[in-house]
Amino acid sequence: MRDGNASAVYRLQYAPPAFWIDAVELTFDLDPAKTRVLNKMRVRRNPEVAAQALRLDGEELQLARVQVNGAGTSFKIEEDQLVLENLPEGSEPFDLEIFTTCAPEKNTQLSGLYVSNATFFTQCEAQGFRRITYFLDRPDVMASFSVLLRADKARYPVLLSNGNLVESGELADGRHFARWVDPHKKPCYLFALVAGKLVAREQQITSRAGKEHLLQVWVRPGDLGKTEHAMNSLMAAIAWDETRFGLSLDLERFMIVATSDFNMGAMENKGLNVFNTKYVLASPATATDQDFANIEGVVGHEYFHNWTGNRVTCRDWFQLSLKEGLTVFRDQEFSQDMAGSASARATRRIEDVRVLRSAQFPEDAGPMAHPVRPDSYVEINNFYTVTVYEKGAEVVRMQRTLVGGHEGFARGMKLYFERHDGHAVTCDDFAQAMADANPASPLAQHLEAFKRWYSQAGTPRVKAAGHYDADARTYTLTLMQSCPPTPGQPDKLPFVIPLTLGLVGEDGAALPLQLAGEAAAGETQRTLVLHEASQTFTFEGVAQRPVPSLLRSFSAPVILECDYSDAELLTLLAHDADPFNRWEAGQRLLLRVALSSIADSAEQAGATAINGHIPEDIVDALRAVLADPQLDPAFKELVLTLPSEVYIAEQLDEVDPQQVHAAREALRLQLATALQAQWRSAWEQHQDSGAYRPDAASSGRRALAGLALSMLCLAARSSGDTVWPGKAYQRFKIAANMTERLNALGALIVSDHELARPALERFHERFRDDALVLDKWFALQAARPDRGGNVLPAVQALMQHPDFNLKNPNRARSLVFSYCSANPGAFHRRDGAGYAFWAEQVLALDAFNPQVAARLARALDRWKRLAEPYREAARAAIERVAAAPKLSNDVRELVTHALA
Ligand code: ARG
Ligand code: ZN
Repeated sequence: MRDGNASAVYRLQYAPPAFWIDAVELTFDLDPAKTRVLNKMRVRRNPEVAAQALRLDGEELQLARVQVNGAGTSFKIEEDQLVLENLPEGSEPFDLEIFTTCAPEKNTQLSGLYVSNATFFTQCEAQGFRRITYFLDRPDVMASFSVLLRADKARYPVLLSNGNLVESGELADGRHFARWVDPHKKPCYLFALVAGKLVAREQQITSRAGKEHLLQVWVRPGDLGKTEHAMNSLMAAIAWDETRFGLSLDLERFMIVATSDFNMGAMENKGLNVFNTKYVLASPATATDQDFANIEGVVGHEYFHNWTGNRVTCRDWFQLSLKEGLTVFRDQEFSQDMAGSASARATRRIEDVRVLRSAQFPEDAGPMAHPVRPDSYVEINNFYTVTVYEKGAEVVRMQRTLVGGHEGFARGMKLYFERHDGHAVTCDDFAQAMADANPASPLAQHLEAFKRWYSQAGTPRVKAAGHYDADARTYTLTLMQSCPPTPGQPDKLPFVIPLTLGLVGEDGAALPLQLAGEAAAGETQRTLVLHEASQTFTFEGVAQRPVPSLLRSFSAPVILECDYSDAELLTLLAHDADPFNRWEAGQRLLLRVALSSIADSAEQAGATAINGHIPEDIVDALRAVLADPQLDPAFKELVLTLPSEVYIAEQLDEVDPQQVHAAREALRLQLATALQAQWRSAWEQHQDSGAYRPDAASSGRRALAGLALSMLCLAARSSGDTVWPGKAYQRFKIAANMTERLNALGALIVSDHELARPALERFHERFRDDALVLDKWFALQAARPDRGGNVLPAVQALMQHPDFNLKNPNRARSLVFSYCSANPGAFHRRDGAGYAFWAEQVLALDAFNPQVAARLARALDRWKRLAEPYREAARAAIERVAAAPKLSNDVRELVTHALA
C-alpha cells in the first residue's frame, strides 16, 4: 500500500461480485491502541457468477480468527486480501466470522478508524472500510448493518453509529455499550462510528409528510454556541428537498458530527454525516460570510446525498460523478434558492463558474485531464476532482436544460428513483432515466452523443461568428466546435452543447429571436442545440445590428471564442438582460487588457514593472457599474474583481507567472486609483451592514465594502496617504464581525502597510484558542503579496511556529497549500525555491497522509506551460519527488502523469 507500485484498475473490467453480504453485525471494543473488531457476516454466493474463492479486502489489520458456520476454516492472505477457498457450495447463505484488531491512534492517514482529540471517528469513502475489517469493500455490495459499540464510559460517553439506537447500557469496569441498527441496506463506504466526549444541539422537526425526526449536530463541548447556522442549514435543506423534489428524510434520526482532523470537506455516511469543523462551526465573531455560505452549501450537499448517493449509489468508483456531479448540482441549486433575488442567484452562478474556470479548466488542460466518468485509475482518492464534482454538475445542469428546465428534470429524477431506488447504478442509468422521462426532448433525441460529456475529457471550444444583413434583416450565426487532445484521447467527437442566447440591440434592446421558417413568437432568449462540428442558424426579422449574447448563464462548460469589438462588449456590460453575461463582458474586456499588457512586457524582455493601461472607455464603464444605484453590491464586487492569475495564465501558451502577476497588479492599481471617488462612496455607503446576518444581501454589502477598503489602501500606498490605512486599522480593531475584521486586515496586508504587522499580532493574541480562526491567520500570511521574495522565508518561519502542525490537514492547507496554490506571485520564483519547498512538503506529508500529500502534489500540474527558468526548476522538483525511495500510490500516480 505504501510501496507505491499498485497497478491501474479499468472501468471496462467491471465484474459483479462473486458473493453477496446480506447482513453484517459488527462489535467494536474501542481502544486507541488496540481496537478489537468482531465481524459476523451473512454471506451467499452470487448465483450469476461462476464459483470462485471469496476475496475480502483488508489493510493494516491484525487477523486473529476466521470461522465459517461456527467452525475454523483454512484461509490465505494474499497482499491486501483474505482469500477463502473452502466455502460451502450451493446458494445457501452461511455465517462468516472474522476477528481482527487495529490501532486507531497510529492511523495518521485519517482513512478508516482514527482518533482525533481523544475521539474516535471513521472515514470509509472510498476504501477506508477495509482498514476496519475484512470485507467486500466495493459500493455494489449492500448489507444490513447492526453495530455494537463498547468503550470506557468516562472517556467515551457518547457512542454513535448509523441508523437507530436500539439499546444502550452499562458494562463492568466502567465501560458501557450502545447498539445501533440501520434500517437501510448500504455499501460499507457509508458506514460510520463516532465515540467521545461530545455534546449536541438538537432539533425536533415534523416533515411535510407528518413524520417526526430528531436532528442533532454533535461538537466538542465548547463549540455548541457555533452550531446554530449548521442546524438552520440542515432544516432548510430538508425542506428544500421535500418541496423541490418530493424527497423526504427516511430516518428517525439524522446526525452531523464535527471533527477538526479531516482529509476532505464532509462525508455523507447514512444518518451520521461526519464533517470537517470548517463546514459546521460558525459565529459572527469567528466565521466569515464565505464560511457561512460554505456551511450552508456543504450541509446541503451531504444531506442531499441521502437520496443521490445513498438510496441510489454507484455501481463502481468510475461512476463517482453519478452521485457527486448530481449532488453538487443539487447543492448549487439549493444555494441559489436560498440566496433569493434573481441578482443574488446570478451572483452564486458567477461564483460557481469562477471555480470551474480557475480549477477545472486547468485540470482538463493538464496531465491529470480525465473524463467525468474516468476509464482507469491507480488510486481512486485521486479522482475526487473538480472534473468529477464541478464539471459533473455542469453535465447534469445541461441535461436539465435539454429536457426543457425544472419540470422535465423533476420527471427524470422521479423515474430515476422509481427504477433504481436501493440499487448501485451507472451514469448511463441516470441519463437514460432523464431521457426516457422526456421522450420528445433534445436530450432523448441526442442521448448517445450527449453522453460524450461523460466519456471525453477536455474543455470544448466553441467559435462563434455572426453576420448581419441589414437589407434582409437577417442575422446568421455560425457555431463551430472542437476539443483539444487530452492524455489517451487524441481525437474527439462533437459534443451536444446547449447554447442559450439572446440578441442585444446597440441601444440595449432585447431583440426577438425567430429562426428562419418559424412563426414569430416574440421570445428574446432561447437555447440552440449544437451537436455537429459546425452549424449555422439564421434569425429573421432582426430590425437592427445585434450584439450576440452567447452562452447565457454559462449554459455549457465550454470556452467560447467570439471576435467581439470593445464597443460590443461595452454594450453587453451596460445592457445585457443576462447578469451572467454582463459580468462576462466585463471580464472579457479586462482579460484582453491583461493579455495585451503581458504581450507588451514580454517584448521589453525582463520588464516586471508594468503600467496598467485600461483604456479610458473601459474605466468609465466600470465606474458606471460601481456607481449604479440599481445594481446589487455583490454583483458590483464581482464585476470589479479582475480575472484570477490562474485564469489569465490559462489563456497563454507559455506562462511567465511573474509577468502575469505584475500585469494583474498593475491593472488593480489603476482601478484603485482611477475609481477612488467611487470606492470611497461605496465604502461609506456599505461599511455599516448593521447587525450581523449571513444572508446574500448583507454579505454582498460587506464584500463590496471590503473590496473598496482594500482598493483605497492600495491607492494610498502609491500616494503615501495614511488616512485609509489608519481607517482600516481602526476598523480592524472595532470590527463587529469576522468578515469585516478580516477584510480590514486583508486591506492592510495587500497594501503591505506597516500596520499589518501589529494587526496580525493582535489577531493572533485574540484568537489563539480558536483553531479555525488561526487557520485564517496562517493563510493570510502565506497568501500575502511578495516583496522581493519575502513570503517563502516567512512561510518557512511559520512552519516552526508553536501553533503550526503539519499533521492537521486544515492547518497544513492554511499554510502550505495557501502558499503553493493560492499565491502564484510568491510561489513561482525565478530561483525555483518555491518548487523545492513544495517537493519537501509533498514528501513530508506523504510519509503520514498520502491523500493530503496528493492534493498538494497537484499544485504543479501545469508545469509544462511555464517559461524558463521556471519550467526547468519545476521539472527538477517533480523529479525529486518521483525519485523518493518511498512513495504512496497516491503521489506516485500523480507525478507519473505529470512527467509523462
Ligand atoms: N463523498 C464525500 C463528499 O461529498 C467526499 C468524501 C471523499 N473522501 C475521500 N477520502 N476521497 O462529498
Ligand atoms: Zn459529495
